[in-house]
Amino acid sequence: MNNICYSSCLTLSTHPRIVCQAMHTNNMERNCFVPAIAVHGGAWAIPQADTEASCQGVQRAVRAGYKVLEDGGTAVDAVEQAVRVLEDDPVFDAGTGSVLNYDGDVEMDAIIMEGKELKCGAVACVNNIKNPISLARKVMEQTDHTLLVGHGANKFANEMGIEKVPTSDLVTEDARKTWEEYRKFKKTVDVFFSSRTDAGHDTVGCVAVDRLGNVACATSTGGISAKKVGRVGDSPIIGSGAYCDNAYGAVSTTGHGENIMKVTLARTIISYMEHLGLSAKEAADKAIAFMSKRVGGVGGAIVVSSSGQLAKSFNSERMAWAFASNNSVRYGIDPGDDIDGGAV
Ligand code: GLY
Repeated sequence: MNNICYSSCLTLSTHPRIVCQAMHTNNMERNCFVPAIAVHGGAWAIPQADTEASCQGVQRAVRAGYKVLEDGGTAVDAVEQAVRVLEDDPVFDAGTGSVLNYDGDVEMDAIIMEGKELKCGAVACVNNIKNPISLARKVMEQTDHTLLVGHGANKFANEMGIEKVPTSDLVTEDARKTWEEYRKFKKTVDVFFSSRTDAGHDTVGCVAVDRLGNVACATSTGGISAKKVGRVGDSPIIGSGAYCDNAYGAVSTTGHGENIMKVTLARTIISYMEHLGLSAKEAADKAIAFMSKRVGGVGGAIVVSSSGQLAKSFNSERMAWAFASNNSVRYGIDPGDDIDGGAV
């Protein structure tokens, strides 16, 4: 059924995704796409001690998101759900487990986007929120804005009735130890992403395509340890930390935010798919290589094409990732990994 539908798109035009998109626009949607979802738990030199927990964590999240898609949920529902699971997992730098800023506080960034109308919601520098991704979704769906920051974002959370949690609920022992070590450095960002490849503890994200062929992406992070108070990274910036368009696919990125922003990594990947006709994998590899060459950036990305092709790419030492489609899970953490995670 799924393949038949996609094949029928292929017979309609030399640009199948555009035809499918046109069908959506005309409300002629059919329940005919293969749901697919990918998550990441951050691109950095993940210590050996965190390997098992990171691999388990990304698999748990991808299963939760896939179940939403299988139950007929939207891509937006799925990416939000998967990222909530990652935010609640203390091994990852988002929600619970977020790293601390220079003053020892938690300031979190998150974004969510959908590919049909290109609606997007994001928050930056928020604190005392257990699941910033759900606050970002409220910005997308309940406001006329795209990005709320700091005090205003927290005020909006109160208005939406989003529960506040004490900072101590979000802070792990690991995050505190890293902060104590890294706040000695004057230029956190430089130290972290050049001389110290083990630094980071970076970001979570998810991309998905649902049965209707709608794509979505979500990214959430505590940022980088001992960052300046008020520093905003790439994650909540549309086109940098995430981007999607039903005509091409969805992207979530991770890594050194300052460099990711310089090359608008997520939009660049979609642009390569759009203008060069590259596959999700080719586009991600090319954009990461460009970021490395142009600005010396370190990071990674996950991509789903609108036809359900899943891809990941990273030039950091490691990146925990997991894919789910056709009721099976694959995952990895080291370059070259492609491990069978069994049935969803
Ligand atoms: N990529 C996450 C950050 O730099 O904040």
